[in-house]
Amino acid sequence: MSDASDVHNRGGFTAFIFAMVFVFSFFFYLVVIHPGVDLGENVVDPRAPTKDGAAAVFNMSAVKEPWTSTPEIITYGAKVFKNNCSVCHGNEGKGDGPSSASMNPKPRNMVEGKWTQGEGIIAHYNVLVNGIKGGSMASFQHLKTYDRWAILHFIESITQNKSKDDPAKVAEFAKTAN
Ligand code: HEC
Repeated sequence: MSDASDVHNRGGFTAFIFAMVFVFSFFFYLVVIHPGVDLGENVVDPRAPTKDGAAAVFNMSAVKEPWTSTPEIITYGAKVFKNNCSVCHGNEGKGDGPSSASMNPKPRNMVEGKWTQGEGIIAHYNVLVNGIKGGSMASFQHLKTYDRWAILHFIESITQNKSKDDPAKVAEFAKTAN
């Protein structure tokens, strides 16, 4: 009887030692050998410098009149669009982003520009602030004001249905818009 339980205990002891050796080797591996996981690797900062020299020195927050389009603003706006809108509207704004398939109504094809919330850049600005009720187009009020203008200038640059808003009226609107 006592022999049998000795054998049993020895088995348990061996298993225990085995487990401890495993745990400590694994611990050693994690702490000393494993290179670690870089949690920051997928975070894209639209303001981060790029290989493109012009974009590297461009500082959108310093632009005095962000409601007036420039080539630098459009390049910058394309990046902000990519980070915030592409998942639904697609990188090229054609309404075919990876999340668009199951949506009804579908994300707007910006190139086509069949606007339903009013024509022109002021109407689009209001869509960004308020979103569109009854669908997946949320409010983007949390974006910086200048980032919203940059995105809108990018959309203007790709759409076939461009804004006919009077620039003076847009400037007037921009001064009161938040
Ligand atoms: C989660 C998906 C989603 C994201 C992200 C998204 N949209 Fe939309 N967007 C939609 C959908 C869906 C519609 C169409 C809604 C409708 O027709 O009711 C739409 C419509 C629009 C329209 C059309 C307005 C009009 O008058 O017809 C504009 C402009 C627009 N989005 C801009 C943007 C911008 C700019 C961003 C990024 C800052 C963005 N959207 C991010 C889903 C999205």
